[in-house]
Amino acid sequence: MARQLFLGLDVSTTGAKALLIQASGEVVGSATTPLPLATPRPLWSEQEPNDWWDGIVHSIRAALSQASAAGEEVEAIGLTGQMHGLTLLDENGEVLRPAILWNDQRTGAQCAEIRSRMGGSAHLIKVTGNDALTGFTAPKILWVREHEPEVYTKVAQILLPKDFIRYQLTGEYGCDKAGGAGTILFNLKARDWSTEVLEALDIPAHWLPPTHEGPEITGTVTTATAELTGLRPGTPVVGGGGDQAAGAVGVGAVEPGIVSLVLGTSGVVFATTGRPFIEPEGRLHAFCHAVPETWHLMGVMLSAAGSLQWFKDTLAPNLSFDELLAPAADIEPGAEGLLFLPYLTGERTPYPDPLARAGFVGLTLRHGKPHMTRAVLEGVAFGLRDSMELIKEAGLGEIAQVRLSGGGAKSPLWRQILADVMGQTLVTVNTTEGAAFGAAVLASVGAGAWPSVPAACSAIVRIVDRVEPVPARVAVYATHYPLYRQLYPALKPTFKSVADMDG
Ligand code: XUL
Repeated sequence: MARQLFLGLDVSTTGAKALLIQASGEVVGSATTPLPLATPRPLWSEQEPNDWWDGIVHSIRAALSQASAAGEEVEAIGLTGQMHGLTLLDENGEVLRPAILWNDQRTGAQCAEIRSRMGGSAHLIKVTGNDALTGFTAPKILWVREHEPEVYTKVAQILLPKDFIRYQLTGEYGCDKAGGAGTILFNLKARDWSTEVLEALDIPAHWLPPTHEGPEITGTVTTATAELTGLRPGTPVVGGGGDQAAGAVGVGAVEPGIVSLVLGTSGVVFATTGRPFIEPEGRLHAFCHAVPETWHLMGVMLSAAGSLQWFKDTLAPNLSFDELLAPAADIEPGAEGLLFLPYLTGERTPYPDPLARAGFVGLTLRHGKPHMTRAVLEGVAFGLRDSMELIKEAGLGEIAQVRLSGGGAKSPLWRQILADVMGQTLVTVNTTEGAAFGAAVLASVGAGAWPSVPAACSAIVRIVDRVEPVPARVAVYATHYPLYRQLYPALKPTFKSVADMDG
């Protein structure tokens, strides 16, 4: 008998992933095609949109084959992907230049221009929920206008990475609400493009696609794409969501009170809100959720598990993660006074500073690699606590549960350090496939397999493990966290001087 399958497609920075699930949440096929990343200049980060599409086509075919599934069995498709990336198309739908990605830091001057055109950051935050940050989409548009006028005059359509995939699949231009909010061209409350912001920035409204809720059907697979991918022509494609919103759906963080803590390459603390909730200083991102009529607040740390990856690649390339981490478990909490500041790629929360840098502080002759490893794990946990504290201060109400996910959460040592640093019980869930899983769940809701996203999540997502904080260690970290907090303000002028020196 033909199965009813749902396909989640995720165009992340590192790979194009296709994931096939049943409505029950059971994963039946998964494939990821690695993606190249270009850094043509320091702080720049770009990818070719056509590489995303080639990778997605390859992964769809591989996932169907792994699941021994016919395209006819796929009921609906959900999209997710890296947020904020700027994809520019001309009037024929052709890509005009490589996409400028979420982790590109070239647009400091354009962020200042946006604040000024909007009459200051307070008003910008009031309308969009967010201050202008280098990672977001709007300053990238201004950068192209200023630096590549020959490209800018040809622009006819602006898309996010996931929506370039939607265009290839369906021939339709469209954008999800979560992704739209991440451009900061959105009116957060209205869940749609802000005429005020577009006019202030002088960006034509017709360059932007219609916006859709996460489970809403936005188009269907074309005959040509069906031939290319093995999918059925006419398969519906739903709105989906930016990777953080879709990832939150994937772990069931879809209602107020459940916070998602993601220890991936970047680190995220994500809290669902039932209304547009804004952190007045814009230190937390306020975006639409992929769940209709909900929003979320989020703190983003740029180098979380990415810090450990860098440490291993640089100082222990021949060790496995297990071999690297095992000796760190024998080091006392606090790593004998060694602190690690994790700003390897600048930072967003709580310090939106592209020039921030990483460092070890407090090294002595006694410290060896195990201390340094432990300090990295602890420094990342302190950075995530910064976001958690901001979420707590935002006055959202009680945090009933914190759900931990992401590659770094596979380490029992790191899970325990996080629970001890946060002073908080953390739970893990049975669904570990990340944003692609959330996108597939949104597709299943769009196809009518479930009445709502929360209903789908409560049927599919189960708690499988629990990490309790150990009071003695919580007390140690309570004395170390304030020391960590002193580092950025003390070093900020040095970071600026170092950046100036580097040109
Ligand atoms: C969210 C963000 C990242 C990217 C890359 O604001 O910048 O999560 O979406 O994954």
